[in-house]
Parts: sequence; C-alpha cells; structure tokens
Amino acid sequence: NKKGFIFDLDGVIVDTAKYHYLAWKKLASKLGFEFTLEQNELFKGVSRKRCLEILLDIGGIKWSHEQFEAWMTAKNEDYLAQIEEMDESEILPDVQRVLQHLKAKEMPIALGSASKNAIPILKKVKLLDFFDVVVDGNQVSKAKPDPEVFLIAAKKMGLTANDCVVFEDAVAGLQAANKAGMISIGIGDAKVLFDAQYVFSNFTEMDNSFLNSLLIPQE
Ligand code: G6P
Ligand code: MG
Repeated sequence: NKKGFIFDLDGVIVDTAKYHYLAWKKLASKLGFEFTLEQNELFKGVSRKRCLEILLDIGGIKWSHEQFEAWMTAKNEDYLAQIEEMDESEILPDVQRVLQHLKAKEMPIALGSASKNAIPILKKVKLLDFFDVVVDGNQVSKAKPDPEVFLIAAKKMGLTANDCVVFEDAVAGLQAANKAGMISIGIGDAKVLFDAQYVFSNFTEMDNSFLNSLLIPQE
C-alpha cells in the first residue's frame, strides 16, 4: 500500500518566496507604487502571469499586451539573477531528512509546483534525484487553487488522489490539495494556513513517527 508524497517547491523545499517578493517589489517600485510582504502572501502558489495581473491591479496600472509581456520577462530575469548562486544551503531545515525517510520507506515522491523554474532550482540544490515525478508550471494550465497540478502528479505516480499527501506553504495550494481529496499539510503559520488538515511551522517540527502514521491505511 503506497502513499504518494507531493511537495510544493517555493517556501516548502527552498526559501525562494523572498526572491520572488524582491523581484515583484522592484517592478512595483519601477511602476511607482509599494508592494508589501502582506500582499506577497497572495502571490504564493500563484502563477507568474496571475501574480502580474494582481500586482498591476494593486498599483492601478493600465497596460498593453506588449508591456505585460515585457514586465513578465523583467520580473523573471530579476528572479533568475537572484537565484543564480543558489546552492544546497538554501534548502529549508529537515527537508532532506523527510525526503530520505520517505525514500527509505519506498514511497513515491513528486513535485507539484506552479513555477516554470522548478527543474533548474532542484538541480541547483541537488535534490532532483529524489523526485520520481515532477509537475511544474510548464505542464499545468489551471493554477492553484485548482487541483490540476496535484491530480497530474497523482496520475503520474500511478496513485489515486486519496492515497496522496501534499506539503504546501500557500493558502491556494492547500485549497488545491483539499479539492483534490488529498491529505493537506501546511508548512508555516497555523494562523494563515487554517485550510490545512495538519500544520507544522517547519519540517523540523514534523518527526518520522508522524510520517509513518500517514502510511497506515485509512478507512
Ligand atoms: C510558485 C510561487 C509563486 C510563483 C510561482 C511561479 O508557486 O509560490 O510565488 O509566482 O511559483 O513561479 P515562476 O518561477 O514560474 O515565476
Ligand atoms: Mg509555495
């Protein structure tokens, strides 16, 4: 009886949310308005295109199709410049221990991310080999909170949604996991992530016996 474990990337495996934030903040300031950390919460788990739409809405900016494309490119170039030097030191605490534990139990492991930069990031931090399946922003058409990304991951692992567990730091991601009928585990602040079935402030708080409890077949 296999359980599939689906990990979000940004904010779960690596702390890239701060780099996304800085890149959006820079664009906002170029366009003449503030973009706050609080507003950045809404950007977690949300596609680059949708983030830009929200940002321009916040700033009350009108745009042409060409400008929109140019701003998308500028944001991504800034983001890529920031993560260029990224290495294993940017992996969030105890991520490797959890991945190793699940591997030792021979459980399938998947990535379920909205990012189009997921594979290069996993390569930089040398974690790509842990993943049996990678589903990223290049393969999905419907963004979280739509469950598409996780349903594709389950299918690729050869599992039903009920046999999957999702680790997420984003409200939209937890809603997607719940809609998919998967076990949703929030990584972050319980006050923000109340949609999750379980919440841990980080993987250090989640011990192997909790992971083992998820492997027991549920009625
Ligand atoms: C993740 C992040 C979002 C980001 C999205 C797209 O879901 O949480 O903040 O906007 O990926 O990332 P990308 O690397 O494709 O711009
Ligand atoms: Mg995330």
